[in-house]
Amino acid sequence: MSSINYSEKIPNNVNLSEDRTLQRALEQWQPNFLSWWGDVGPEGSTNYDVYLRTAISVDPQGWAQFGHVKMPDYRWGIFLNPAEKDRKIHFGDHMGEAAWQDVPGEHRANLRRIIVTQGDTEPASVEQQRHLGLTAPSMYDLRNLFQVNVEEGRHLWAMVYLLHRYFGRDGREEAEALLDRRSGDQDNPRILGAFNERTPDWLSFFMFTYFTDRDGKFQLSALAESGFDPLARTTKFMLTEEAHHMFVGESGVSRVIQRTCEVMNQLKTDDPARIRAAGVIDFGTIQRYLNFHYSVTIDLFGADESSNAAAFYSSGLKGRYEEGKRTDDHKLRNESYKVLEVRDGKLVEKDVPMLNGLNEVLRDDYIKDSMAGVARWNKVIEKAGIPVRLTVPHKAFNRQIGSLSGVRVSPEGQVVSQAEWDAKKDQWLATPEDRAFVASLMGRVVEPGKFANWIAPPVMGINRQPVDFEYIRFN
Ligand SMILES: [Fe+2]
Ligand SMILES: [Fe+2]
Repeated sequence: MSSINYSEKIPNNVNLSEDRTLQRALEQWQPNFLSWWGDVGPEGSTNYDVYLRTAISVDPQGWAQFGHVKMPDYRWGIFLNPAEKDRKIHFGDHMGEAAWQDVPGEHRANLRRIIVTQGDTEPASVEQQRHLGLTAPSMYDLRNLFQVNVEEGRHLWAMVYLLHRYFGRDGREEAEALLDRRSGDQDNPRILGAFNERTPDWLSFFMFTYFTDRDGKFQLSALAESGFDPLARTTKFMLTEEAHHMFVGESGVSRVIQRTCEVMNQLKTDDPARIRAAGVIDFGTIQRYLNFHYSVTIDLFGADESSNAAAFYSSGLKGRYEEGKRTDDHKLRNESYKVLEVRDGKLVEKDVPMLNGLNEVLRDDYIKDSMAGVARWNKVIEKAGIPVRLTVPHKAFNRQIGSLSGVRVSPEGQVVSQAEWDAKKDQWLATPEDRAFVASLMGRVVEPGKFANWIAPPVMGINRQPVDFEYIRFN
């Protein structure tokens, strides 16, 4: 059951051929997906043979097979984790009941909304990253970009399968709409803010895959707990793909930092102008990029108090991160949680019913996880003997969503006036000038084993291949 059938037009492990109507509907969507990929997928990449991993089975051991493929020929398909026998809903009002194999009528609208919102982020990131191949710092990095891109395409397939299989005509219409919206489009943008921002350079890309793909990890983890079993099984498998995306981000930023440290030590300087003149990215710029991506990403968790979040949880649609490992009653009716609000010009904590604060619960879990990687980046700086440290800004900094969106807060967590914000903003968030500088470093380096000056090579290649392996044949 867990092995994947590749002999069909749409690879799958869900016995697609036994449901002709569904198979036909998805086969009609398939060319639309491919033309979307052709229009807004990685630019100029159609003929490249890329060393990509493809899932051959959803077992942890048999996950991946590597080989050179042209991306339009990548076998996008439908892969669900194996069903757990007699699985029960393990949180909310339906706790203890059998997990749903079909969509319960009363939760249909909410479930569809959850799936569409998740699904929309997947093609969005491909669109955001489509020009990056033109300025790749190495062949190794270019491969990683493409791997992330094809897997985000597969994540779209994962959500589209659920829409087609369980939501009838509405689902098919939503699946079309997922190919119609465009990241950053004035008239028909993607649903969530961070997915309409630009990812114009590779420092943005690494920050995005570190911070924003990690939002994906937490959203998918919460959905992997769902009482709607097909959603749980789909998202569990997506999580195994997501891990690589976050690796690309964490190691990417780490290599940028390492290279900056090398140059600072060679030149014995901490002067940003000299560091920049040597063609590497100064820590001020790295910190301002970090502040931007972090703050935009934590907005994705939604308003700090949300009756939707409560309803999604109580009705068993969306759990908490690692719900199964928690030891409370999994109903949370009597629990409270602390959220921030502004009172008399200061940030203060207030207690809200935990059910209403579940977006904040997930955001806080995310924040802990993000900080761990930033600590690992700081180890690289520490090892190089440089006294700088990167920090994660306060969670009220630069927020556009929720009760903190109406206030100006410094990265340290001080409420500031609009005038002070305007005066300091350029020290806190990447400026057009920072972005222009980073853009000036971007240039295509794609000979095997060669790396752009601003980034260190990785310690290891992909799939135990050497770093100078021919990951891409350009033809
Ligand atoms: Fe994804
Ligand atoms: Fe991802």
